[in-house]
Amino acid sequence: MSGVIISPSILSADFANLERDIKLVENAGADWLHIDVMDGHFVPNITIGVPVVDSIKKIASVPLDVHLMIENPEKYIEAFAKAGADILTFHYEAVKDIKEIIKLIKSFGVKAGMSIKPKTEPDVVLPYLDNLDLLLVMTVEPGFGGQKFMPDCAEKIKFIKQHCHSDLIIQVDGGINAETARICTSNGANSLVAGSYIYKSDNVADAIKSLR
Ligand code: DX5
Ligand code: ZN
Repeated sequence: MSGVIISPSILSADFANLERDIKLVENAGADWLHIDVMDGHFVPNITIGVPVVDSIKKIASVPLDVHLMIENPEKYIEAFAKAGADILTFHYEAVKDIKEIIKLIKSFGVKAGMSIKPKTEPDVVLPYLDNLDLLLVMTVEPGFGGQKFMPDCAEKIKFIKQHCHSDLIIQVDGGINAETARICTSNGANSLVAGSYIYKSDNVADAIKSLR
């Protein structure tokens, strides 16, 4: 895929009208769907789990980009893979054996992503970049939609871009709008997650276009 991959976060969708809100972003040009899984332990919020991903898979026509903000993610990789995740992104801070979990994700034919929180230094990712398909730089503290973009985090993108293989997808998540998207893509990000900016806009297609 050339250009920037736009992955609307359904965290800002209406969960009582999830199919409607998924079709809304798909018809407006979304490349992926970003699904935020939170466990109330790794982050102070609880969202959705395996059965919801399974149901979304049946109606979605774009790849499912599943962001695991959970402790012990290795325990749930198989279930999310079988539910239909196309990309599984775990948190660096939540895993002891990172090479092992990457291998596990790939064993199901799923793309492997790793994410770092705002306070995590970017050099910790270096030993794993060659094995990863995607690196997610959080630009807010994970846990909630609608927070303000942290500009310091964007600096990390440059560092990662300098050290990674050419196929690595560098994704950002948190406080992304037309303005902060530009900061991130000019630093080397090529996948943008956006929740409130897309779902709270009057024209979703225009909002997605404005991110590219
Ligand atoms: C936050 C989640 C994000 C969230 C982004 O922990 O990982 O995906 O939905 O929401 P916005 O785009 O509103 O900052
Ligand atoms: Zn996310």
